[in-house]
Amino acid sequence: MLRALCIFAAAAAASACKPCTCGAARGARVVGGDALSPGEFPWLAALLRDDKVICGATVVAKDHLLTATHCVHEIEVSRLTVLHPDFKRYNYDNDIAVLRLAEPLPDNLFRPACLPDDEYRLSGANAIVSGWGSTSEKGPASHIPIKAEIQIWSEEECAGAGYGRAKVTPNMLCANAPGRDSCTGDSGGPLVVANPYFTLVGIVSWGRGCARQGYPGVYVRVDRFLPWLKVALRHACTCSPPLFP
Ligand code: ARG
Repeated sequence: MLRALCIFAAAAAASACKPCTCGAARGARVVGGDALSPGEFPWLAALLRDDKVICGATVVAKDHLLTATHCVHEIEVSRLTVLHPDFKRYNYDNDIAVLRLAEPLPDNLFRPACLPDDEYRLSGANAIVSGWGSTSEKGPASHIPIKAEIQIWSEEECAGAGYGRAKVTPNMLCANAPGRDSCTGDSGGPLVVANPYFTLVGIVSWGRGCARQGYPGVYVRVDRFLPWLKVALRHACTCSPPLFP
């Protein structure tokens, strides 16, 4: 059973959506494989099961998070509403899920990440992945969240990765950097692009080993799910990036 989210919700009832901003980090320094300072990525959450971190997740509204379907698929969720599209268990296609919290998060505990508003030009972009996953292929989970800057591959490069064309669907993207990758336990967590407001472009989904040459991390391509998210997040108060002067 999915027991708890790492950020606990306190009672705070609010009905109408107040204007809010997304994607503002708190003093983020962008380098690879670095500890995140507390509150630096205020949208990053962990999913716990029996008090152990099983996956990451991203806060996109005060009572909604995105994660990977395979993190919550067939797990009894008595306290969460989980929506998932056509998740394909054999190839992890459509590995995206929305978690709706019974109680909204307290305002001081989070800031949401922005969602892409259109298909993003992602090929070659620098992005940051973060989570509590292992820091080496067979290593233990990290006790603190870590972030690493990696690069998004083009679709052609991704299709030509060690996995072979058939494994990578148009709903996925590849990303890594030499010696840098997401790993076990990072699933469901955010891959964000700073533009300059942090936008969720990917969700950690799968990979062979971790940081193996020719085998990048494979992520849900969030912008492919915008129509689906419109429906799945219909009860959410999502936020917009601050307007430029
Ligand atoms: N499915 C894995 C999870 O639990 C994520 C794997 C990501 N792998 C990678 N090489 N990037 O935690």
